[in-house]
Amino acid sequence: MLKPDAMDRSDEILNLIKDHGFKIAKMKMVSLDKGDILRLYKEHEGKPFLGFLVNYLTTSPCLAMELVADNAVSRWMEFVGPTDPERARVEVPGSLRALYGRDKGYNAVHGSNNEEDSKRELDIFFPSTQVGNLSAPHTSATLEGTLCIVKP
Ligand code: GTP
Ligand code: MG
Repeated sequence: MLKPDAMDRSDEILNLIKDHGFKIAKMKMVSLDKGDILRLYKEHEGKPFLGFLVNYLTTSPCLAMELVADNAVSRWMEFVGPTDPERARVEVPGSLRALYGRDKGYNAVHGSNNEEDSKRELDIFFPSTQVGNLSAPHTSATLEGTLCIVKP
């Protein structure tokens, strides 16, 4: 997810994401409310920076994406870089946070921690998404059904 502070450079960032071998399967601009953020960051319940996060992520829209690649979750985390952009600039200079983050709070992008979280989070942005279940039978059944309807 691109956080509000990354939105004015979203074109540039989307190109970098594609150049890194990720396919953007779904993309949606979202205006998050407090409830969405508490769901998204449920592992941080009770943390002192949760109030900051709610303010930060409700100020203006974010860009949510479903990214597809081999080992997408770990590759995305690596590309995102460490939470603190100052650290990212030293340790992973080509990472998104090194390039676009300001500080440990305003750090431009979000990534899921693991596959289970990625499924849970995708369901917040794209309800009823069927991760890894885009098989042909479902599609052809739908198409056949449609064809039947239009036949005389
Ligand atoms: P996400 O991909 O956004 O989940 O970041 P992360 O996994 O690298 O970090 P973490 O889940 O620990 O924290 C979630 C987000 O809360 C961070 O990305 C920051 O935006 C914010 N955050 C974390 N720690 C701090 C902090 O100490 N101070 C402030 N102001 N914000 C913080
Ligand atoms: Mg996190």
